[in-house]
This record gives sequence, structure tokens and C-alpha cells, in this order.
Amino acid sequence: MPSFRALEVDRDDDGYTTRLVERTDIDLAEGDVTVDVRWSDVNYKDGLITSGRFDLVRRFPMTAGIDLVGTVAESTAEDLPAGLLVTVNGHGLGTDHPGGFAERARIPHEWVTPVPEPIDDLSAAAIGTAGFTAALAVRTLQEHHVEPSTGPVLVTGAAGGAGSVAVMVLGALGYEVVASTGRREQEEKSLLRLGASTVVDRLELLDAGQLGRARWAGAVDTLGSRALATVLAETRYGGTVAAMGMAMGVDLPASVVPFISRGVTLAGIDSVYAPAPARRSAWALLAERLDLAALREITEIVPLAEAPGRGDAVMAGQVRGRLVVDVRA
Ligand SMILES: NC(=O)c1ccc[n+]([C@@H]2O[C@H](COP(=O)([O-])OP(=O)(O)OC[C@H]3O[C@@H](n4cnc5c(N)ncnc54)[C@H](OP(=O)(O)O)[C@@H]3O)[C@@H](O)[C@H]2O)c1
Repeated sequence: MPSFRALEVDRDDDGYTTRLVERTDIDLAEGDVTVDVRWSDVNYKDGLITSGRFDLVRRFPMTAGIDLVGTVAESTAEDLPAGLLVTVNGHGLGTDHPGGFAERARIPHEWVTPVPEPIDDLSAAAIGTAGFTAALAVRTLQEHHVEPSTGPVLVTGAAGGAGSVAVMVLGALGYEVVASTGRREQEEKSLLRLGASTVVDRLELLDAGQLGRARWAGAVDTLGSRALATVLAETRYGGTVAAMGMAMGVDLPASVVPFISRGVTLAGIDSVYAPAPARRSAWALLAERLDLAALREITEIVPLAEAPGRGDAVMAGQVRGRLVVDVRA
């Protein structure tokens, strides 16, 4: 039986360790779909998993990687034939179920999303959980009637993976996108090219009090904490804030004033257990609107062994755009 490589996380008295191991199909998990994995990617959560922060892993050793992209090798699901290009985002990959940092994976068919054309395999990995969740957030703004004509939409953590994709998709849909970043000097030009109308400094976000100037018709927030509190305080009457991240912190030092004085909606975005129709809708939006050539420009490819180290860089806010993992390199 041929072997394949996997990057596993283990735990000992000194904390978490990661190592490359050889596995065979006997080691695969439960599921009715086997995938030849071609790519994975490094998200903020991958950094949390491989570093052991937050103890997200449910059993050890665990193949890391919250995303996978590859072709179906074997399947008993009629709508997932052999050879089909598919992706899995979340569903406990890398925490509860062996994940995408391996050349083979077996998963239940309910978790699998066919990659819609014209998205190719590398682009699907560059999108990954970060981009897919950004698309879920944009869909949520649309569902709450935040339209391009309603007014400017803010994206926080705009130079990060999720933020970049949110800027690109909102820009392509015709919104006036205000991109907030802590790296304005380095990233302003790139964010304007990706679709932002204006780039503002992250510091501008931090002193609005309970109710600030009404600026945003909507927002995609990847930061949480004081940033999200400020975004809420600066959202216009009837606006919606899609909260998807915690890069600044998991706290929310806010008041209820924006909700009861301006009817602001705070909409939570979860990618891990998002139901299949929401997943398909988000991927359809990406297929329709995401500029894949521009995405490629903010994507770096790293070999499997480097994924844990790059996870640390992602958590330190040092990565620009998206990191794709070549699981065969
Ligand atoms: N809800 C979900 O299901 C879901 C799914 C995916 C991701 N997320 C969360 O969304 C967030 C973004 O994910 P990502 O993959 O896009 O991560 P990422 O690529 O690291 O981007 C995060 C960005 O946030 C900013 N940032 C980082 N550290 C910061 C700090 N201490 N204070 C203020 N800003 C900081 C940086 O942007 P600038 O340099 O532009 O300021 C950074 O590029 C993470 O918290 C992640 O856990 C949630």
C-alpha cells in the first residue's frame, strides 16, 4: 500500500510539537469520500492549532490543516464522482478530524463543496477558510440590505487574508470600500488595486466612544475587541456589521447605544459549521466576482514542512494576503 506524507500535531509535557510522518490509507479517518489532496493553506486558526494556543485540538496526534483542496479519489456519493475538484473548509478539520496538511484525506460527503468554475485548484486554496468566510460576511451584508448605493462599507484587518478577499469582492460588487489597516504605508497601493476606494489607518478606529460619527453603511470586521466596538459606534442608522474575527482580541468593550439609538445590527459569521446552502452561495459569489489573477498576486506558496512556522507569522499579523501550502513539496 502506498504511503503519503502528513504533518501532525502532538502534545507532550513541554507543549505542542509538529512533525512530518508517513501514513497509509489504513490510517485515514471515517468518511465516504477519499480525496487526493493537492493544496491546503495557512489561516489564523492554523497558527492557533499548530502553536497550541487555545487548545483547539480534540485528540492527538492530529493531522493539522483546517482546509483542503484536491480531487475525489474514491466516493460512494453520486454527486461527488472520482476526479471532481473539491474543497473542505472547517467542519473540525485539523481539530476534531484529520485535516488538510496531508496528501490524502477521508471525510463525510456532507462536508465536501465542489469547487465552482472558473476557480482552479490553487485559487481555491488561496481562497481557503479566510476567503470563504469573507464571502459569507459579504453575503450577510447583502441579506441585511447593505447595497452599494447605501453608503461606504468598512473592512478591518484589510491587508490580512480575509480582509483582502472582502475588499476584492465588495469592490467588484460596486461598493465604496474603506480598507482599514495597521500597515497603511506598505499596503495602501495594493489595497487600492484590490478594490478599496480609500485606505485608513487602524488607529483611526479606536476612539469613537459609545456613539461616534455615523460613517459606515456596513462593515466586515476581522479584529474584534476595541476595533469592533468602534466600528459599531460609527455605523450609520440601520447598518449591519458582520463580525468574523478576533485578530485584536476576543473581548468586546462596547455599549448597547448603537443598537438602541441607530438600530445597528451585529451579525455573527461562522465558517466552521456553516450549512451547505450558505457554503455554496459563498463559493458562487467568489466564482462570480473574485479576480483570480489579483488573488494570485497576494498569494505565497510554502512547502508542507514550513506551514507551522508560517502559522506563527500569521498570528503575529506579519503575513500579507494568503499563504497556500503545497502538500506535495
Ligand atoms: N468566523 C470564522 O469562522 C472565521 C473564519 C476565518 C477567520 N476568522 C478570523 O478572522 C480573523 C482574520 O483571519 P485571517 O485568516 O484573515 O488572518 P490574517 O491573514 O492574519 O489577517 C488578520 C489581519 O488583522 C490585522 N491584525 C493582526 N493582528 C492584529 C492586532 N493585534 N491588532 C489589530 N489588528 C491586527 C492585520 O491586518 P492589517 O495589517 O491590515 O491591520 C492582519 O493582517 C482571525 O481572527 C481569524 O481567526 C474567523
